[in-house]
Amino acid sequence: MEAAIGAQKRVLFEHIDDPNLHNIDRAIELGAYKAWAKVLKEIKREDLVQLVKDSGLRGRGGAGFPTGLKWSFVPQNSPKPKYLCCNADESEPGTCKDRVLMENDPHNVIEGVLIAARAIDCHIAFFYIRGEYDLSMRRIEKAISDAYARGFLGKNILGSGYDLELVLHRGGGAYICGEETALLSSLEGEKGLSRIKPPFPAVSGLYACPTVVNNVETLANLPRIVMRGAQWYAAMGTPKSTGTRIFSVSGHVKKPGNYELELGTPLRTLIYDFAGGILDDKKLKAVIPGGSSVPVLLPDQLDTPLDFESVQAAGSMLGSGAVIVMHEETCMVWVAELLAHFYMHESCGKCTPCRQGTGWLYEIVHRIEHGQGKPEDLATLEDLAHNIEGNTICALGDASAVPVLTTLRHFKDEYVHHIEHKTCKVKSNFRLRS
Ligand SMILES: Cc1cc2nc3c(=O)[nH]c(=O)nc-3n(C[C@H](O)[C@H](O)[C@H](O)COP(=O)(O)O)c2cc1C
Ligand code: SF4
Repeated sequence: MEAAIGAQKRVLFEHIDDPNLHNIDRAIELGAYKAWAKVLKEIKREDLVQLVKDSGLRGRGGAGFPTGLKWSFVPQNSPKPKYLCCNADESEPGTCKDRVLMENDPHNVIEGVLIAARAIDCHIAFFYIRGEYDLSMRRIEKAISDAYARGFLGKNILGSGYDLELVLHRGGGAYICGEETALLSSLEGEKGLSRIKPPFPAVSGLYACPTVVNNVETLANLPRIVMRGAQWYAAMGTPKSTGTRIFSVSGHVKKPGNYELELGTPLRTLIYDFAGGILDDKKLKAVIPGGSSVPVLLPDQLDTPLDFESVQAAGSMLGSGAVIVMHEETCMVWVAELLAHFYMHESCGKCTPCRQGTGWLYEIVHRIEHGQGKPEDLATLEDLAHNIEGNTICALGDASAVPVLTTLRHFKDEYVHHIEHKTCKVKSNFRLRS
């Protein structure tokens, strides 16, 4: 995968190609920790929250919730400690943007964590990193220890009187641990099971204390916003989706990779200008624009601007920013089977509709894909998916219904063909091992 290519809007990727950026001396040369010093010396906590609100920054972890607003939900009059958790679990299929930031520019990510911690008046922050991300883990671990050595972390930071500790926690590599409440359970040493909301983490999170969970890319934006200002940031992107976004493009494109573009850039530009167009010059069939848990867009929606509102208006979501491209020879029943298998495997099992339903979805789609489907299976699939949707503790349940419902909505003929002819309508070369 390429980290970046030319002519993107490089904000987070400004120095990403510098091979020594992960080294603290080089990072400082390029401006790291200047924003942190400014926050500690010149900006009042409330003004920092307002600055981020004014920038329009929205969370990059999936839901796109405004970051400054989320911080302002943390009660400041609570006698309990406040916690900040950096969500570096990155397990949504197709998503690999946080990894590039952590491996290549760990000090920028750490600096973002420090700024967010200060914004909510937190003195112990956590970095929850996906278990399989070995290089990211080593780079972040080294960056944290170097930041301590230079006095950017610890007691009385830079003579400001502010104390902050940062604890690295390596997850076991379960998708559900990226869901914020499951992440908190896991961090407490429990099984990574989601919790019912409300109460929301901002009020009762880690150890029942006020907690903010923010994504790596969200946090990585903060040093730039502090140094260059809210207006500069808000001028990029669209009025309601400001700034840039790192899109992880995978699937049937000539140049898969992470591309940083202004929000609002058309999907067509991302796929054809940056990712090189469709592999082998075949026809485009469908695109998942925001990770495996969002509905597909079709070729006639290629001009959809990639911002939160436009993608939603087109019937999908920007989610984690993972753009998965599929060409004409992709069997959509196979796609549904693959994703159904993933969600079945990753369900934490706490609520019945998800625990049981994801298994049933997989079983039926698997049967259809492998030539043993029955005509009545299609109605059962729809019924099942609708019974999971909206009836679970966390969004993983909803997500599991999406691939089945979206492929049934747009590609029902392929399911019917599988059932009636016991063969695949398209020349798919892919098969899940049975
Ligand atoms: C099943 C599931 C998995 C998730 N995985 C991640 C993840 O790997 N990384 C992430 O930042 N957010 C993930 N999220 C979203 C988080 O719950 C949370 O909204 C996010 O970390 C908030 O950060 P933000 O406000 O900066 O976007 C996941 C959500 C669900 C339902
Ligand atoms: S929806 Fe699934 S993953 Fe989420 S809490 Fe319920 S069982 Fe667990």
